[in-house]
Amino acid sequence: MEIKVYDSVDKIYIEVASYYVKKITDNPSITLGLATGGTMEPLYKLLVDDYNENKTDYSKAKTFNLDEYIGLPKDHNQSYRYFMNKHLFSHVNIQLSNTHVPIGDKLRVNESAIEFEKLLSENPRDIQLLGLGQNGHIGFNEPGTSFDSITHVVNLTDKTREDNARFFLNLDEVPHQAITMGIKSMLSAKEIIIIATGISKARAVKAMVNGPVNERCPASILRRHPDCIVYLDKDAASLL
Ligand code: F6R
Repeated sequence: MEIKVYDSVDKIYIEVASYYVKKITDNPSITLGLATGGTMEPLYKLLVDDYNENKTDYSKAKTFNLDEYIGLPKDHNQSYRYFMNKHLFSHVNIQLSNTHVPIGDKLRVNESAIEFEKLLSENPRDIQLLGLGQNGHIGFNEPGTSFDSITHVVNLTDKTREDNARFFLNLDEVPHQAITMGIKSMLSAKEIIIIATGISKARAVKAMVNGPVNERCPASILRRHPDCIVYLDKDAASLL
């Protein structure tokens, strides 16, 4: 695991965005593992700015997102499909049929997990992008999730629901369940990039980087990946 600490958050996004643009330009058929959440918004904005300026070609790229809430309609403004369309997919020339977000339809979520995992095994990711939960989660793999997990249904912890309530009208609106790529599925990507910024992530960063590698901190397993880079600002790195 390589750790990079920046004195400004902006520098992180500039570096990561230019890395993505280079990788997509070098390999237009790239397969990307993508994430949602507040951490990713500035990155996607820079990718869209780049597209408007340089027309970086996404027409052959494929994407696989980490997770989706269960029970929200697809067009709900807090669904992760909506997030991805809003922040990235609608602004670049990617084919929507090449973009995959797990489907959180309550009635067939178990089938949907099996189908998603099959797609993942047929489409190895070149780069997996991750954010970090304040409790050390990656995707929606909460503390205690097996490192051998594949795509599955999770019960969200109270902490994660509270952390995400800021995006909803109130806590009651935050779904209790989600479908997420498993930890084993994430680790099969050739490269992993994880970004964490702000003081609220400092404890999780410390557990990921310096704590024991165990399922109490799902992100700690990233230390065993052969090509994982962690991008931190000073606040997120403050307990290292
Ligand atoms: C989202 C995801 C989550 C977030 C994490 C951090 O697809 O997989 O693991 O990356 O909860 O969220 P933010 O960036 O909102 O702090």
